Amino acid sequence: MANVVVVGAQWGDEGKGKIVDWLSERADVIARFQGGHNAGHTLVIDGKVYKLHALPSGVVRGGKLSVIGNGVVLDPWHLLNEIATIREQGVEITPETLMIAENTPLILPIHGELDRAREEAATKGTKIGTTGRGIGPCYEDKVGRRAIRVMDLADPDTLAARVDRALQHHNPLRKGLGFEEVDREALIAQLKEIAPKILPFAGPVWKVLNEKRKAGKRILFEGAQGALLDIDFGTYPFVTSSNVIAGQAATGVGIGPGSIDYVLGIVKAYTTRVGEGPFPTELLDADGQRLGERGHEFGTTTGRKRRCGWFDAALLRQTCATSGMNGICLTKLDVLDGFETLKICVGYELDGETLDYLPTAAEAQARCTPIYEEVEGWSESTEGARSWNDLPANAVKYVRHIEELIGCPVALVSTSPEREDTILVTDPFSD
Ligand code: IMP
Repeated sequence: MANVVVVGAQWGDEGKGKIVDWLSERADVIARFQGGHNAGHTLVIDGKVYKLHALPSGVVRGGKLSVIGNGVVLDPWHLLNEIATIREQGVEITPETLMIAENTPLILPIHGELDRAREEAATKGTKIGTTGRGIGPCYEDKVGRRAIRVMDLADPDTLAARVDRALQHHNPLRKGLGFEEVDREALIAQLKEIAPKILPFAGPVWKVLNEKRKAGKRILFEGAQGALLDIDFGTYPFVTSSNVIAGQAATGVGIGPGSIDYVLGIVKAYTTRVGEGPFPTELLDADGQRLGERGHEFGTTTGRKRRCGWFDAALLRQTCATSGMNGICLTKLDVLDGFETLKICVGYELDGETLDYLPTAAEAQARCTPIYEEVEGWSESTEGARSWNDLPANAVKYVRHIEELIGCPVALVSTSPEREDTILVTDPFSD
């Protein structure tokens, strides 16, 4: 398979970073296609830890092209800091190894301020629990046709006019929120200051990727967040502001959907969520506490404690369908070591009815109670397993049962943050 899309199949934090890094060895190009620096991908390579937010995970591998596609929203100041940090760790980042789509919208300081102000003003039930990074307000400007995009930095005259257009919207909004008006000249000066640092990386990503595709190069599409945070198919309104599902890989860089050969869903062996919103299998007891502690469930971007719960096969069936998953990679199986029994949600009860999917309305989602199957756990350690033979029989049974319940084959099992601790069933890049 030439082109593989990796997407999170739950609420994010499934362990995509490690798998993208693992797969990137066989790819020529690694492309981000949505989200922004709300993402947090941790890579552990030879004991060295890299924390990435806006940069594609491919940057840490030499000889690859990393791409930030037009479907991403980009905070240029954050990006420059991240590049500096990663360079300090010995990674080379040049315009030959990193390309940013010219039509990528820029996250401005006003977006972050607006995001945080809205969250602070929100009352119980309306708070989203965003990362506060300005992601939503920037996507709003994009669809509102007033965003400032990467290539706008190249022309000081039109840049000023574009800033005016954006401020025509933002200044009245800011006034209503009790904020000062934006200092137009200061914002233009800030943008002019970063322009020469960002522009060397800018290019026509759609063109370059189509040429690479035609030349038989392998493209790895790196999703951020998770399918349950998708703006259309997630637990709306408690979602992020982009399409997260696999179809976005095509529009987020400018290639045809027929160029996608394999979709790999990354699936944690239990469930976590950061931020607000429905979570039918959430555990507020000692089991939830244990999953959080054993799984080190704290957000990479915000440090927030993640909510934890049992595996939800009903939700997985949905995300496998909306992303057209060809296979899944099951991660963090070792966190379940030592549980006497494990529960798996197979459907929901809502107002006396049984459902095999989560209904669309947020209020109905919140009222759903999970229907569980209970399975036997295992006492042995699965950490670091590299083949099925290294796994206890009940762990194999758990994985196989999940496969059956969600109707999608397991292609990989990840058993520690180290890249080599992976059981390979099917290589998504194999022909
Ligand atoms: P936003 O993307 O910052 O607007 O946040 C919207 C929702 O998505 C919140 O619930 C966040 O916690 C969640 N979210 C955003 N990015 C990530 C991520 O990378 N992992 C997990 N949750 C995320």
